[in-house]
Amino acid sequence: MSVLAARDLSVSYGKIRAVKSVSFAVERGEVVALLGSNGAGKSTLLRAVAGSVAPEAGQVLLGGRDITGWPAHRVARAGITLVPEGRGLLARMTVWENLLMGQYARGADDAHALEAAMDRFPVLRQRRRQIASTLSGGEQQMLAIARALVGRPEVLMLDEPSLGLAPRLVSAIFDVVAGLKREGVTIVLVEQNARKALAVADRAYILETGRVVLEGPAAELAAGEAVQRAYLGGAPA
Ligand SMILES: Nc1ncnc2c1ncn2[C@@H]1O[C@H](COP(=O)(O)OP(=O)(O)OP(=O)(O)O)[C@@H](O)[C@H]1O
Ligand SMILES: [Mg+2]
Repeated sequence: MSVLAARDLSVSYGKIRAVKSVSFAVERGEVVALLGSNGAGKSTLLRAVAGSVAPEAGQVLLGGRDITGWPAHRVARAGITLVPEGRGLLARMTVWENLLMGQYARGADDAHALEAAMDRFPVLRQRRRQIASTLSGGEQQMLAIARALVGRPEVLMLDEPSLGLAPRLVSAIFDVVAGLKREGVTIVLVEQNARKALAVADRAYILETGRVVLEGPAAELAAGEAVQRAYLGGAPA
């Protein structure tokens, strides 16, 4: 059974239909990429899964259990953790307080997971008393991911984790995703950087104006002409 599935999910903001009958599934340990241009509905889809917007139709299933319409805090407790666009850190709180809040959101109390997060990102240990808003962009993204991981999510959803970062840091973030994949963490990855996302993902879905227009194994999509032309800047090599 899929760890996460959306069935015919639709979401509107007033008259704007942002997500139109989208279905997708994520198996345990998979990295699934959601790709598409600006305004395609990627963030809205993640928000609907996370319970921060209510879908007008369709279902969200976590391990086969219908969680549609659950409030965000309850979805988080059940194990779906969203690292939103813009990271969603508690800007005036310290690195350490942000990590504690990550555990609180999941209803966890796990000193080992906190240590493991700081082992993964040593800069966070070094800066654990520093106010989150004073971290660099790359460090803030690391903190946002660490804050999600300390709750040991069933599904980690990352919304454009590399956005606005310098190339070296973009690579560092993708290395983190690849490392988490090796450890068996189940990940839904929304990215503008389609090439890097398809390189790390097992499967991908491509959205256009709120609908899934293509889906399949990431390697196949990366090699396909339509994706090359629309998202990878040219014809296949
Ligand atoms: N809070 C909101 N209120 C009204 N409309 C919204 C809201 N958030 C998103 N939309 C609209 O819904 C559609 C989908 O937006 P969404 O942010 O989900 O796309 P996206 O694929 O994440 O885009 P981007 O790549 O720019 O992050 C767009 O037309 C957008 O303008
Ligand atoms: Mg978005």
